[in-house]
Amino acid sequence: MTDRYAVVGNPVAHSKSPQIHAEFARQTGQDMVYEKLLAPLDGFAETVEAFRNHGGKGLNVTVPFKEQAFHLSTTLTARALDAASVNTLKFEGEQVIGDNTDGVGLVNDITRNLGFAILGKRVLLMGAGGAARGVMLPLLEQAPAQLILANRTVEKAEALVVHYLKKIEQGITVRSLTAVPYGNLIGPFDLVINATSASLKGELPPLPEHLFNPGALAYDMMYGTETTFMAWARAHGAATISDGLGMLVEQAAESFFLWRGVRPDTAPVMRMLRAA
Ligand code: ATR
Repeated sequence: MTDRYAVVGNPVAHSKSPQIHAEFARQTGQDMVYEKLLAPLDGFAETVEAFRNHGGKGLNVTVPFKEQAFHLSTTLTARALDAASVNTLKFEGEQVIGDNTDGVGLVNDITRNLGFAILGKRVLLMGAGGAARGVMLPLLEQAPAQLILANRTVEKAEALVVHYLKKIEQGITVRSLTAVPYGNLIGPFDLVINATSASLKGELPPLPEHLFNPGALAYDMMYGTETTFMAWARAHGAATISDGLGMLVEQAAESFFLWRGVRPDTAPVMRMLRAA
């Protein structure tokens, strides 16, 4: 019987995940289907349960259910536990395994696809919500020289810093990890990642003029059209500017690997989506 997977969210109609996973499955010869599942805002757990009872093998979880997916999991991977959110569920007997592949997706896109080494670099992460937290551990594992967190509500960035300073005691190396308000930001940086939702409203956090070092990468976790941040980065001298489409494909590849034990080739899928 063909194995069933889906992406569950609300809204979910815009999701590119079915296209991505269909291409992965074709490429690797896996017998599976991948659908879209719209869950009512107050009916996430019921939707997951029904899918599972009908033979579903796994789910990708998107807005606004990643935290609920975390609580619904019976087993969590270390990175899901750390992120306190789950974007991938795998059903195995009675077990509901929760993983979070967003961070590794971001890091793989930056280091492999864009060929940018994070090791020893000065990095600015903007935002301190779920999206930022989801990528913190994999980013720190790349051993940047410095990771500065900037957030409009600086207390949220400070709380994240306190959490990750504990991790650093457990062996992660970063020379400095600090939280600053946008107004106190002192550039330049080698890598600036926008993990805020400001772009959705066409807004931009207040940034200093000299934000980018020569050769700097400006990365927006959003994808689709050029965001306000990407346009600003273009006008302020970033050497490379990227949206988050590669992150989307790479996190999908990591979910696919968790489910099927096979690593798909992401490059042709990226080309297909860029062409569309
Ligand atoms: P997500 O799951 O996408 O991270 P979230 O948890 O609501 O969503 O977090 C949104 C992030 O974008 C927050 O860091 C938020 O800043 P605050 O913590 O101060 O609210 C940030 N954000 C949203 N709109 C912004 C804007 N116009 N300027 C700067 N930061 C913004």
